[in-house]
Amino acid sequence: SEPFSEKLRVPEALTFDDVLLRPKESRVEPDEADTTTRVSRSVELTVPVLSAAMDTVTESDLAIAMARQGGLGVLHRNMDVEEVAAEVERVKRADELVIREVVTASPDQTVREVDEMMEAEGVSGAPVVNDADEVLGIISATDIRPYLEVRDRDEVREAMTDEVITAPANVDAREALELMYEHKIERVPVVDEENRLSGLVTMQGILQRREYDSAARDDTGRLRVGVAVGPFETDRAAAVDEAGADVLFIDCAHAHNRNVIDSARELAAGVEADVVVGNVGTREAAAELVEFADGIKVGIGPGSICTTRVVTGSGMPQITAVAQVADVASEHDIPVIADGGIRYSGDAIKAIAAGADAVMLGSYFAGTDEAPGRVVTMNGKRYKQYRGMGSVGAMQSGDDGNRYMKDVEADEEFIPEGVEAATPYKGSVESELFQLVGGMQSGMGYVGAGTIPEFKQRAEFVRVSSAGQTEGHAHDVVITDEAPNYSPDS
Ligand code: XMP
Repeated sequence: SEPFSEKLRVPEALTFDDVLLRPKESRVEPDEADTTTRVSRSVELTVPVLSAAMDTVTESDLAIAMARQGGLGVLHRNMDVEEVAAEVERVKRADELVIREVVTASPDQTVREVDEMMEAEGVSGAPVVNDADEVLGIISATDIRPYLEVRDRDEVREAMTDEVITAPANVDAREALELMYEHKIERVPVVDEENRLSGLVTMQGILQRREYDSAARDDTGRLRVGVAVGPFETDRAAAVDEAGADVLFIDCAHAHNRNVIDSARELAAGVEADVVVGNVGTREAAAELVEFADGIKVGIGPGSICTTRVVTGSGMPQITAVAQVADVASEHDIPVIADGGIRYSGDAIKAIAAGADAVMLGSYFAGTDEAPGRVVTMNGKRYKQYRGMGSVGAMQSGDDGNRYMKDVEADEEFIPEGVEAATPYKGSVESELFQLVGGMQSGMGYVGAGTIPEFKQRAEFVRVSSAGQTEGHAHDVVITDEAPNYSPDS
């Protein structure tokens, strides 16, 4: 056999700080750089950014905020199947044109009762329906006002407008707007052929959707959402697929594993959603996944809370891992997602230069308002909890689907591959994404590329020494005011 010392003739593997993008002649202004990309075979995003499937990062609030800004949230799997299916439905309903859970009034309620109900529900009008859900009229806060002042025990049937303009189930935004314009109204009940209520379109809803004009939406206009699923969790996969998830992320710390691949392949064949499989970090792993995956996720141990590399001695520096996987995936036109280790917008755009189509971040979003968990103050600074899904705490609160749990029972000792930590509190996802994407667009400008595919072709790396790295950070100064996109702590 080969001498052991041959093992020490090792290839070099690089990560974010080892490289920089070589500036090139440019005609691209950063704000014109188009960041549209694909996260899986059939799901396109205007912003190439995903939030990590971690229990201190992505639940429905963050997923809604991510999709509204054009990215994608991936719901974590430390919740039971019914819970995650409900979370998927929450995201899918958030900006729906037709509201499905409509607050209704009945004709024999008093105007006082309905006024109180509308106040409690935060709505300013309600369709009036009978026991069979047939629409009899519509009532608004303005209709009620004079009755409240004079005789508040009058019934809704007297105060309501009984000539109701309704729309059919397949109404689109344009048609709804035309009805509103023509009849000077602000809400249109949606009914079936028997005049039974099935939803409501409101002017406010239409305007709110317009505010998010680059949102990630499916073919019917609902926000997109991703969900993490264990490689053997057929029930979870079926439930979230049924609930309308757009992309399933088969979530495994080391997906280049025979059992995982066999099961993932079967699972992918049984669902309608696209299926992204990960994590991997080598060419050989990618070659297996391209046979059935709609996307491949890369990252063995780069994450801020990960200890996989120190605990197991195994891993692959992220820039090399992404490039190796992208070599294979690009030949099959399968998108690649770089997951973990991204601290700055510069890291994110370097990952794309190495061949990724999109990036996934955990710690970057864990400190936002929309992430789960409370804000805590330590030494006068505000933080939010952030923990690895392979940390003791996350494994204890997860079920046996957790990706870092080997065959251990919940009361046995774990071999953790992550830590429990805190990350600085940051404010809204919207402002964090604005900085991240703006920085990435500036990066595209330095390379002279106007689109992501063009950027991936045009970008070239240079190798950076540790002196070069020091030169690249703020140095020899005392920072007096914090920049929104740079903190030397991270
Ligand atoms: P960042 O650096 O964005 O990384 O905070 C987020 C990614 O880290 C992965 N992850 C883990 N990796 N042990 C690990 O080795 C863990 O406990 C752990 N938890 C999360 C995951 O891929 C995530 O998207």
